[in-house]
Amino acid sequence: MTPEPGPDRLDALLAQVLGSVAGEDARLRELVGGVVTHLHAFVRETRPTEAEWLRAVDFLVRVGHTCTETRNEFILLSDMLGVTSAVDEVNHTGPPTMTPSSVEGPFHSPAPPRPLGAWIAEGPERRRGEPTVVHGRVTDCDGVPVAGAVLDVWQADDAGHYDSQDPEQPDGNLRALLTTGPDGAYWFRTVLPSSYPVPTDGPVGELLRAIGRHPMRPAHIHVKVRAAGHRPLTTHVFVAGDPYLGSDAAFAVKDALVAAFRPSAGPRFGMDGPFLAAEFDIRLVKEGDPR
Ligand code: BEZ
Ligand code: FE
Repeated sequence: MTPEPGPDRLDALLAQVLGSVAGEDARLRELVGGVVTHLHAFVRETRPTEAEWLRAVDFLVRVGHTCTETRNEFILLSDMLGVTSAVDEVNHTGPPTMTPSSVEGPFHSPAPPRPLGAWIAEGPERRRGEPTVVHGRVTDCDGVPVAGAVLDVWQADDAGHYDSQDPEQPDGNLRALLTTGPDGAYWFRTVLPSSYPVPTDGPVGELLRAIGRHPMRPAHIHVKVRAAGHRPLTTHVFVAGDPYLGSDAAFAVKDALVAAFRPSAGPRFGMDGPFLAAEFDIRLVKEGDPR
């Protein structure tokens, strides 16, 4: 039955739409009901004109058309609106000592296995920028070492480009799969990453410019850790002192993920001259931990 027009028309309309949400899957009904409720509240509060609503729809169509095999503009939109970080936040609770998770971002791809201590920049000509060692231990939240944990690391070069964005870099450059030893220790040699802009040549870039936002991410190294008997972790190590730590375009910075990259000098860690050293311990949550 069509609801009567009147001051409660919007309430009646919402109730009618919610009443139409059916089907076997209770969780799907909850999610669709939530989206409908919040979208109706948005319309009620902001009262978009028809032209504004059509412009929003056209924007989403263009976001879809910008997606390719290697580029997901919808994920970028979710990242830039902080929604990916909100989803991360509600899904990764745990003991206070755990290493916090952070968004994966769009640049993960399969990495080559490398031995502990390896240079992850392929060849001396790719080692532009400051030589850097990242080292630490993977433990559980009580400090017990986790042997055989696999770290999947990936980062941009000193100019802010991942291998997949830069035809000059071979596939797998600045990526590695590293396995911790019996003491849970890991280390690798690399170059200091730099801050870089997210892709701005599509509709999401247009939106950032229109709302007066910069597209920069603070310098970071991505890490995914997998270890038997422990919850998987996807996170970042951020470079302390980066000017964009307080305004990450992806809203992914957490204090516990910011590491000092301190001046050091060889002979140490297989380095001869000066280098930067960052210590980053990783504390995993045991599977079955109720926290
Ligand atoms: C990244 O760090 O690779 C990234 C994360 C979110 C959006 C764009 C890039
Ligand atoms: Fe990144």
